[in-house]
Amino acid sequence: HTIEWSPDAAEKGGYDHYMLKEIHEQPTALRQAIAGRINGIEEGVDLAELSLSEEFLTTIDEIQFVACGTSYHACLYAKQLIEEFADVRATVEFASEYSIGSGRDPERTLVVGVSQSGETADTLRALRMAHRVGIRTLGVTNTVGSTMARECDDALYIRAGPEIGVAATKTFASQIIVLAMFALTVAETRGELDVAAGRELRRNLQDLPGAVQSVLNQNDEIKEIAEAYADGEAFFFIGRRLGGPVSLEGALKLKEISYDHAEGFPAGELKHGPLALVTEETPVLAILTDGTRPEETRNNVKEVQARGAPVIAIAADGYQGDHDVEFEVPDLGLLEPLVANVYLQLFAYHVANSKGRAIDKPRNLAKSVTVE
Ligand code: G6P
Repeated sequence: HTIEWSPDAAEKGGYDHYMLKEIHEQPTALRQAIAGRINGIEEGVDLAELSLSEEFLTTIDEIQFVACGTSYHACLYAKQLIEEFADVRATVEFASEYSIGSGRDPERTLVVGVSQSGETADTLRALRMAHRVGIRTLGVTNTVGSTMARECDDALYIRAGPEIGVAATKTFASQIIVLAMFALTVAETRGELDVAAGRELRRNLQDLPGAVQSVLNQNDEIKEIAEAYADGEAFFFIGRRLGGPVSLEGALKLKEISYDHAEGFPAGELKHGPLALVTEETPVLAILTDGTRPEETRNNVKEVQARGAPVIAIAADGYQGDHDVEFEVPDLGLLEPLVANVYLQLFAYHVANSKGRAIDKPRNLAKSVTVE
């Protein structure tokens, strides 16, 4: 009787791929991200390592986010939270496209770079551009001691633990919740935080790991659906507001690891062009949760159904019914789209795995891109 063992398999902790392991590590990663920072739903968030002064946070009139890839999608989510809670203008730019912009007062601007590795050349370059004109910079990263952490005025760690799979998974969720806590901090400092809304977001942050776990527990069902739809000609992901960044991220995951054509966009844009591509052979994955204007997205779902496209709905209670497949998102307010994203991660993984793709090291891609 022999036991099969290899160092590689041991590192993957029994999972076939690092990506699958890292998807399953999300509840732990999320708990690490909030440990000591949220100390009960009645208490304010404590981001002890931030040195930004109260005066600075109160007087800024713009927060500019810069990032690439999955981190860019996390910023799109965070921008909406910042604007919702702290009532400060926030912009998001691809780091490779960044320019300070005209009419900005460096003293009243904060640039936030978001990078898992802290080594992405495009993001470092954007931060250096800001620094050069006297703008304060904050780096949000997973990597202690990274170039980003060393060069920025402030660093905020997401504490997700090492991520080996080239396609980012657990770090996306961790980035968003650290940025959500940052939004609460800015809102509170500026005296903009609605007490009930703050309490609800803190409660949702605490409940997120459990909600993510409830999705992970459905891995087998998700696998079955992914395999049933894996032969689609193309895949579309739609959702409004906070569902927009998650749609982009869902499509990015799928294209990165399965090499299938996938596109994500705000649901309202569907009729302005992409609808021409929708057929019976193009599954549409729709996000219908809090924070995504699900009633309006329903109209877009009907538009694709009228063209015969199968619809896989990732839906909160109340927004279900009349879809080919439905996955349920538990009640979690503005974090519901983030829970929906876990379904999309597993969907992408199982589509790619059924095709035998090199999931942890997709062709042409690198974990960290250190050239501009
Ligand atoms: C590469 C990776 C992506 C990642 C992006 C940004 O392109 O393949 O998965 O999202 O870099 O990486 P960062 O480390 O800056 O978050």
